[in-house]
Amino acid sequence: MKKIALGADHGGYLLKESVKNHLTCLGYDVQDFGTDSEKSCDYPDFAKLVAYNVSDKASELGILVCGSGVGVTITANKVIGIRACLCHDTFSARQGVEDDNMNILCLGGRVIGSELAKDIVNAFVNAKFSNLDRHNRRINKITALENTNLAIKET
Ligand code: RB5
Repeated sequence: MKKIALGADHGGYLLKESVKNHLTCLGYDVQDFGTDSEKSCDYPDFAKLVAYNVSDKASELGILVCGSGVGVTITANKVIGIRACLCHDTFSARQGVEDDNMNILCLGGRVIGSELAKDIVNAFVNAKFSNLDRHNRRINKITALENTNLAIKET
């Protein structure tokens, strides 16, 4: 079973717990990076841990939740090798993996309910990257942009 890293801030805590329970019942190997309550905290602290874990390939996929899903998406995409997307529909969650090799799904705990979240999570974890040439070509262009930015920073 796939290893999946989870993280949330206070706005995403309850939905993260629900997603964790769902994935655990399905038999996935889930690693929870927090937060562990609804006490106010900062989403970059948790998004960063999940993004590093996925970038290091310790987990195959990640799921991040904040109030809107926006903050964790912005944060995770700062980490090299991360393709994180905010998806509140099953089509995007599935196609984001098939076409774009999305490796972190982001959700808004104050936007969607737990039942829709389960469907979206199912679409995400069950999808497989198509590995088609045209999709690899596009993803390689994203990677090239990432590497260009790194090179600029180093000069
Ligand atoms: C926290 O109040 C909220 O700003 C956060 O959960 C998230 O929505 C940020 O994008």
